[in-house]
Amino acid sequence: MTTTYVGSIDQGTTGTRFIAFDHSGRIVANAYERHEQIYPEPGWVEHDPVEIWENTQAVVERGLREASIEAERLDALGITNQRETTVVWDADSGRPVHNALVWQDRRTTDRVEELESADKVEWIRGKTGLEADAYFSATKTEWLLDNAEPLKMQSRRDDDLRSRAEAGELLMGTVDAWLIYNLTGNHVTDVTNASRTMLYNIHELAWDDDLLAEFDVPAEMLPEVRPSSDEALYGHTDPEGFLGAAVPVAGALGDQQAALFGQTCFDGGDAKNTYGTGSFYLMNTGTEAVDSDHGLLTTIGFQLSGEPVQYALEGSIFITGAAIEWLEDVDLINNAAQTAELARSVESTDGVYLVPAFTGLGAPHWDGRARGTIVGMTRGTRKEHIVRAALESIAYQTRDVAEAMEADSGIETTSLRVDGGAVKNSFLCQLQSDVLGIEIARPQVDETTALGAAYAAGLAVGYWGSVDELRDNWQIDREFAPEMPAATADRRYGRWGDAVERSLDWARE
Ligand code: G3P
Repeated sequence: MTTTYVGSIDQGTTGTRFIAFDHSGRIVANAYERHEQIYPEPGWVEHDPVEIWENTQAVVERGLREASIEAERLDALGITNQRETTVVWDADSGRPVHNALVWQDRRTTDRVEELESADKVEWIRGKTGLEADAYFSATKTEWLLDNAEPLKMQSRRDDDLRSRAEAGELLMGTVDAWLIYNLTGNHVTDVTNASRTMLYNIHELAWDDDLLAEFDVPAEMLPEVRPSSDEALYGHTDPEGFLGAAVPVAGALGDQQAALFGQTCFDGGDAKNTYGTGSFYLMNTGTEAVDSDHGLLTTIGFQLSGEPVQYALEGSIFITGAAIEWLEDVDLINNAAQTAELARSVESTDGVYLVPAFTGLGAPHWDGRARGTIVGMTRGTRKEHIVRAALESIAYQTRDVAEAMEADSGIETTSLRVDGGAVKNSFLCQLQSDVLGIEIARPQVDETTALGAAYAAGLAVGYWGSVDELRDNWQIDREFAPEMPAATADRRYGRWGDAVERSLDWARE
């Protein structure tokens, strides 16, 4: 019998990865390609959706070719993606009307402040579980419909974009929808991605008419919302297209929800933290949508075919891995791998704190105008202290959201599953365990995001029979237990809070 696999496309902020997994969750094919980050103005971040689609085709083809796997041997394809990033495209030509506005893009901060002044924050939270912020797709879609002038000339007609959207000529979607459309020709998204748009009612499980009116987004342009693992399938790849085979596209989740699923956090109370450009700490809260009083988001964790939605609480930290990239940009380090050695070479930061609020602060502060800060420097401060402070900022920001998570959920976290590129850095894992005072579990397969999307797709087509089978695939690589005395960790964490205040103060200038 021919061995078959499940493929997963992980379209992230900095690049696109294709991985094929076998039945035991082992990686059998893997290819990656970066794409351009476009910064037209300070605080604006764009991606070219066409480049993303071309890279997607390239990594799938290369991954399969290098592993000598024919596309017919893929039983299903899952999609996972950077969330919130918004694309508007022409339904006829398939061409985007503008670059995608990336989740990190802050150009709509003024619009969010208008919502705050109009006392609409609670109203939005009640419907979407989200904190009104430029992070989400609603204000980005509104901006695109109002402003995508420069590229409008390339589209067929001169009518304004909003009328064209009302006529069903323009489509909107997060990156999952953009890729599924290109792969299958169908305009669909999954419920986790919908929950990040600030246009979707997470309790009624429907696009919200009031929010669509508030942001002037025509319902006609929105994708159909489906379960994350869909037995009815999102569609098939085109046998005449790049893969040359009709592979069922059967699963999709936003990347942080995919990591939750890939870490097999299937039950209420299960939590994971993913360390990428930013860090995203999610706790499954079961079928109950838990409201947050501590600056977390209530969001959809996943939905399996024919089953109720499972909710999650989320602490979204905008800058963690990107703080390490910044160290590289300013030539303090040559590569990320160096950070552990430099940080280890000093006992502590000697009182230096770095708050990487480069794009404002997300959870639990939600202040789009906060800015990056380094405090506590003396004449004796060395590069090593700054590097260590950058790593510590990752661990402290995680504690900020972990404390909020405990307060909101009433569940004491005793162990945390971690994943993402930065967890290869054992120094960081140890530091995280010290700062949180709990055990940290690093799994063997650290590509849990791609794995989660593969699991969702594979469950839909019966490649895996049940979630219990998936639980058996989860294996520990290494556990980290706290070594630092709790009193030291608490004292340093207290000073971190003071540093954050300075960064927030800057916003109040
Ligand atoms: O919400 C943004 C998040 O989905 C981005 O994740 O891994 O692409 O930086 P990543």
